[in-house]
Amino acid sequence: MPKPLNIGMIGYGFMGRAHTNAYRKVNNFFDLEYRPVLKAVCARDNDKAKAFADKWGYESIETDWKKLLARKDIDAVDICTPNNLHREIAIAAAEAGKTILCEKPLAMNSEEGEAMCKAVEKAKVPNIVWYNYRRVPAVMFAKQIIDSGKLGKIFHYRANFLQDWTISADLPQGGAGLWRLDVAAAGSGVTGDLLAHCIDTAIWLNGGISNVTAMTETFIKERKHNLTGKVEKVGIDDACAFLCHFSNGSLGLFESTRYARGHKALYTFEINGEKASIKWDLHDLHRLQWFDHRTEGPLRGWSSVHVTDGEHPYMGKWWVPGLAIGYEHSFVHQVADFLDGLAKGQPVSPTFRDALETQKVCDAVLTSAKSGEWTNVDS
Ligand SMILES: NC(=O)c1ccc[n+]([C@@H]2O[C@H](COP(=O)([O-])OP(=O)(O)OC[C@H]3O[C@@H](n4cnc5c(N)ncnc54)[C@H](O)[C@@H]3O)[C@@H](O)[C@H]2O)c1
Repeated sequence: MPKPLNIGMIGYGFMGRAHTNAYRKVNNFFDLEYRPVLKAVCARDNDKAKAFADKWGYESIETDWKKLLARKDIDAVDICTPNNLHREIAIAAAEAGKTILCEKPLAMNSEEGEAMCKAVEKAKVPNIVWYNYRRVPAVMFAKQIIDSGKLGKIFHYRANFLQDWTISADLPQGGAGLWRLDVAAAGSGVTGDLLAHCIDTAIWLNGGISNVTAMTETFIKERKHNLTGKVEKVGIDDACAFLCHFSNGSLGLFESTRYARGHKALYTFEINGEKASIKWDLHDLHRLQWFDHRTEGPLRGWSSVHVTDGEHPYMGKWWVPGLAIGYEHSFVHQVADFLDGLAKGQPVSPTFRDALETQKVCDAVLTSAKSGEWTNVDS
């Protein structure tokens, strides 16, 4: 029988649901030494927390995260709150000796992130950050291809994350559902929210980023704030584009916006190497596009690999070859890998320390956008 790992989850929104779904499914599909137990969910509103617990199968609720951390029957704390709470909760959870799973971005900025890293390292508690796109099978397959050297020397890394949900000037900022527009809760706009995913994947696939030059724009300068009722300055970046140098000598080009009419969550990346290129698109997440210059003759061209065979990453755990899985499975895979690491006593990437690298690039991007100058990533 797998050993129980008692989960205390803080926040029950979008990510609270995605993670809970993963905890519920993981042992049905993966053979693991640990089994997550839905011990408690924490949210400020008693009735809403109770309704969530009943619907999703949590044994109990808390309305104060400090009480959750004080509970002896909680082994692991899952931080699914807005970004401004990550630091305080994570440091307190580390001091309480809890295993920590924290949503991305790690923190509001790298200073906070560094303090969080020190806390988990001092307490020696297992930790991970939910950069879940790494564990989409086609993205993990891209990692295997790159690591095998099939692309050869890499010249270019290009990534986009495009949305269109904040175009209306009538959309307020702040509070439930709209904290992403409030700089005090989010830390930044698309840079920490969307580009952080692109940067995490990029560093993981292509190595460290040494310097950046960026531009940001806030198209709607003022919005009504839901918490104060007043029209207030918007402090987040609505759009961001940056160029960078990777330490392997390749060039990077990144763009993110919430003003790309027609795009809901278009995360794409393309990597061009000396021998071959690959590209991936979240809207078609089970496919990896592949171009191999070594193919001779008129059949040379882009091909589309349906990443659903048993030999593809994670796919042998699911259905039969040819049947696709989706977004939510990336979270199941992350839980599976994390539990496997716990059993082996090994850290599983991205740890807090790994996620701090992304935070440092985000900081450099925002600094460069302000100064208009190339900015080194703090190493
Ligand atoms: N990995 C991903 O792809 C991904 C996707 C979306 C969000 N996120 C991250 O997940 C985190 C949460 O985002 P979301 O989209 O789930 O937000 P959400 O607004 O849907 O949910 C946030 C939850 O936090 C709760 N909360 C706020 N303050 C609290 C407090 N003091 N105590 C307890 N609960 C509190 C809210 O009640 C709500 O349940 C953010 O850090 C975000 O950046 C990651």
